[in-house]
Amino acid sequence: MEILEALKWRYATKSFDDDHILSEDQINILKEAFNLTPTSYGLQPLKLLVISDKILQKKLFEVSYKQEQVKTASHIFVICIEKPIDKNFIVKHFDLVKDIRETPDEVLQPYRDFLISDFSKKTDEDLRQWAIKQAYLALGNMLTTCALSRIDACPMEGFQPEAYAEILNMNTAFLEPVLVLPVGKRNESDKFASFKKVRRPLKEVILEV
Ligand SMILES: Cc1cc2nc3c(=O)[nH]c(=O)nc-3n(C[C@H](O)[C@H](O)[C@H](O)COP(=O)(O)O)c2cc1C
Repeated sequence: MEILEALKWRYATKSFDDDHILSEDQINILKEAFNLTPTSYGLQPLKLLVISDKILQKKLFEVSYKQEQVKTASHIFVICIEKPIDKNFIVKHFDLVKDIRETPDEVLQPYRDFLISDFSKKTDEDLRQWAIKQAYLALGNMLTTCALSRIDACPMEGFQPEAYAEILNMNTAFLEPVLVLPVGKRNESDKFASFKKVRRPLKEVILEV
């Protein structure tokens, strides 16, 4: 039941208490949750930007359709996808598997070669869409972790990715921001906190076969 209570407690926070700064431990838990997210083939085509600079947050607020949560949050996480997902990227992953698990090369090689060949057939846009799906998984994992840790958060697609990349000085040949997650402590005056959850009835969304 604890998990359901946490999921009912959370809501997409529209305004944070801007005097409240999350502790380093709380932020570290969220970084770990991001990194522990399962990804397709375990390739982790993602990076997480962590922002706590209030001047930067104000600039990001301007290119987030002036959504208050970006300006008032304790920290802003920006989930980015990596590029290119090429042979080098895949080889690096298998080197890590080898290091951590000491798996012999002859065991890894067929799988590695299969992935290199399979991924070489995908277009840049296919790879981009594949990576974006992994970013959404990370967002879900971080949101659940926030709920269980009683950290308020707002998942966000409502921002201008090109402007974010420019403000955050990102090299867009290698990184693309796809999701934003402001976190902090809900502002007592955020009326959304008391709104009833709107979800379709279970019997409408669950199909028992
Ligand atoms: C991928 C995604 C993107 C979202 N983008 C925004 C956003 O830009 N701004 C916002 O205020 N809420 C955003 N939301 C919040 C949803 O509107 C909210 O989660 C939904 O209405 C359910 O409400 P609840 O999260 O409070 O239960 C987004 C949610 C998701 C999952």
